[in-house]
Amino acid sequence: MNSYIYSIKNLMIFFMIIFCNEVCGSRTFHVKNYDKNDIDTQVFSVPDGTYVIDPIQFSGPCQGQVTFQLDGTLQAPTGKIDANDWIKFHNVDGLIIQGSGTLNGEGDLAWVGHCPGCPPLTTSLTLSFVNNGHIKDITSLNSKGFHIKIINGGDTIIEHVTISAPGDSPNTDGIHTSGASNINILNSEIGTGDDCISIGGGSQNINITGVTCGPGHGISIGSIGKNTDDSSVTGVYVNGCTMSNTQNGVRIKTYTSDCMATVSDVTFQDITVDQSKNPIIIDQNYCGGHQECIGNSHVQVSDVKFIGVQGTSISPIAVKLQCSPEKPCEGIELDTISISLNDGGETTSSCSNVNVTYNGPQNPPTCSNSLHLNHM
Ligand SMILES: *[C@@H]1O[C@H](CO)[C@@H](O)[C@H](O)[C@H]1NC(C)=O
Ligand SMILES: *[C@@H]1O[C@H](CO)[C@@H](O)[C@H](O)[C@H]1NC(C)=O
Repeated sequence: MNSYIYSIKNLMIFFMIIFCNEVCGSRTFHVKNYDKNDIDTQVFSVPDGTYVIDPIQFSGPCQGQVTFQLDGTLQAPTGKIDANDWIKFHNVDGLIIQGSGTLNGEGDLAWVGHCPGCPPLTTSLTLSFVNNGHIKDITSLNSKGFHIKIINGGDTIIEHVTISAPGDSPNTDGIHTSGASNINILNSEIGTGDDCISIGGGSQNINITGVTCGPGHGISIGSIGKNTDDSSVTGVYVNGCTMSNTQNGVRIKTYTSDCMATVSDVTFQDITVDQSKNPIIIDQNYCGGHQECIGNSHVQVSDVKFIGVQGTSISPIAVKLQCSPEKPCEGIELDTISISLNDGGETTSSCSNVNVTYNGPQNPPTCSNSLHLNHM
């Protein structure tokens, strides 16, 4: 324990030298006053070792690019803590977070007794209004709430990260975006108790390529419309991803509410599902998953392509397109789908309030209540 405390002290000195020329003694460290001509002061480094650290926020604006070199382990205090975010970067243009190190959210005790539908617990790493970010190689382990959140800002790449929490840990989404644009999530491994990647309101041009998910709930757009002022999502490209033992494969979910947002221009391409419960699903009859929904979703879903989705389902309905009677889905295309039932039976499709365009071979067979425009 003594060595921990000693390490924390060292760490705080680092923080103060590099990020804290202005407001010392506070939990907000301003990074704008370091000497931009001195490259060393633009690198914050966590060397080998384990360092316990309370919630902390690094606030810009900065005068140049900042590098956070994580080679050791930063460890959150155990149990529930009274903070939305544990490590937060705010208002930074040019941020690199890299290294072989780990953010350990110490979630185990925080998850105990967490009720379904309760507000989410503390996020491990939050980028808020960060532009030109690059997160690479790091590991995020056992976050209390979400692992990584990208809120607003954009032009950010997340690659070669490893995210891990048990399959039964509550609301431990891997990566969540909202209000952010031009985000690339590449070549990463994510296993959690909730969504692998969740794309929230206001996300634009999100490119997810080469990601392996599982366990967890798969890659999700949504939920959209929980708040009536949720913004629209447009431009989501998911390519070359594998879902292993996930509740859903690729999903769009919108709330039954008056929210008038839209979800448009989405492509799921070259997706492998391995024992997924709902490999392809649009769920517009969603209200949190804990009660019967009242009313209809007013979110318009349009121009969504599923191209080359193959693998196995553990439930017979492998394709479920449950659109809203209020706003039937438009421009939905299924191209070359091959999903068999894990234990060998037939898979089926279920569609409501949608006319699907089919191209290429289809297993499960197409929806009988749909128009088969290019059915082969
Ligand atoms: C997504 O990212 C991959 C990998 O960098 C790239 O090859 C691809 O062109 C991108 N796709 C889109 C639609 O941006
Ligand atoms: C499907 O197409 C038929 C025929 O064009 C049309 O009458 C119906 O409204 C369409 N349904 C939806 C949900 O778009």
